[in-house]
Amino acid sequence: MTTLTPVLSAHWDADRSWKLERYEADGGYRGLRRALGMAPADVVTTVKDSGLRGRGGAGFPTGMKWGFLPAPDGGPRYLVVNADESEPGTCKDIPLMMASPQELIEGVIITSYAIGCHHAFIYVRGEVVHVYRRLLEAVREARAAGYLGTDILGSGFDLEITVHAGAGAYICGEETALLDSLEGLRGQPRLKPPFPAVAGLYARPTVVNNVESVASVPGILVGGADWFTSMGTERSAGHGLFSLSGHVTRPGQYEAPLGITLRELLEMAGGVREGHELKFWTPGGSSTPIFTAEHLDVPLDYESVGKAGSMLGTRALQIFDETVSVVKAVSRWIQFYKHESCGKCTPCREGTFWLAQIMGRLEAGQGTSADIDLLLDLCDNILGRAFCALGDGATSPVTSAIQYFREEFEAGTHTPADVLFPPERAALF
Ligand code: NAI
Repeated sequence: MTTLTPVLSAHWDADRSWKLERYEADGGYRGLRRALGMAPADVVTTVKDSGLRGRGGAGFPTGMKWGFLPAPDGGPRYLVVNADESEPGTCKDIPLMMASPQELIEGVIITSYAIGCHHAFIYVRGEVVHVYRRLLEAVREARAAGYLGTDILGSGFDLEITVHAGAGAYICGEETALLDSLEGLRGQPRLKPPFPAVAGLYARPTVVNNVESVASVPGILVGGADWFTSMGTERSAGHGLFSLSGHVTRPGQYEAPLGITLRELLEMAGGVREGHELKFWTPGGSSTPIFTAEHLDVPLDYESVGKAGSMLGTRALQIFDETVSVVKAVSRWIQFYKHESCGKCTPCREGTFWLAQIMGRLEAGQGTSADIDLLLDLCDNILGRAFCALGDGATSPVTSAIQYFREEFEAGTHTPADVLFPPERAALF
């Protein structure tokens, strides 16, 4: 039985856990001291060797991303922390920043040192004003203690952090839309390549990393790459925050090695709410294909979840019991994607609009027998043809829900003949 491995969340329950002195008392800033005693390239190598993969959803190797930055040319290079957590069901970065903001700030300083950045940005979603305030306060505390500013801890390394609040758009979690938004433009995705590593913020080399990825770095410096790889699986190393929500007895954050299963997590979380049973769930937010009870034993690592037909994504495990209509749940998600589509590309803008129309018809029991095929055809025309991952993500719940619960979609349809010749009138003919 896999057990929990609280590292990031180890001190979240402590009294005023967000204060710098509390963080230091619990061993905080040891990772930074160790990093500053190393050459920046060795810090990059340590993170590469740890196998840490991006915790924002895509799972791209973090150290490799840092290594993509071109050789220094004397101009600025940036670290931008993507704290625009918005994926439905995803609720790990916000608690982390509220409970332990210094963990993130220490990670930002180490990462900046490793990549040669002297001005880092934390882009936090605009709606979470409490998180914005907490980060501002944490940056102030870190600065006053000499962890930020010039000649950090006598190392000769300088760094400033700007905390920036977005205006509340899901698309601004897409890294290039985030960069446009940070530059003061309307947040819409840019064409990739060039990737931000080459031309990012103000067209300069930029690393964009998720909050949890960056916050995992101090632990890796303290524990070492081998300690990190001793957890998880060969290709999905380390610990991660699993967010259980929905029809579960004790919802919340469960920090565990990658490769744990939902069955194990549910046991720790008291199971599905009493008297009910699991119907379907998302392994990584609504943009990942849904799973059912048959997937309870799929190891939650990038490879196994992919092999089973979904994606690990943000490890947002939304649990739905048998009382939930899958058509209604998918319809809600599609309304979200339609609302959040930035409109830049036709497949996503028009596609999510039509998905929402058809899902609405089915939900109201007014679909036609052709609607299921129409939904699949629409998804086929969005997937891989949209400008960014938003469009692809919108198709995942639809196609997977039809795959597992086709009969519920069919129940929302009628044939045109039913309308022309309803059963009560059919007898007349
Ligand atoms: P992606 O796979 O295109 O890129 C992942 C990262 O690797 C990016 O930072 C990208 O710049 C970098 N990268 C990839 N190939 C590269 C190359 N050849 N050279 C340099 N850098 C390279 O994925 P994307 O579109 O950034 O993210 C999609 C994921 O985001 C989804 O899987 C989803 O799970 C997640 N997501 C998370 C949300 C949240 O609230 N945390 C919201 C919505 C989606």
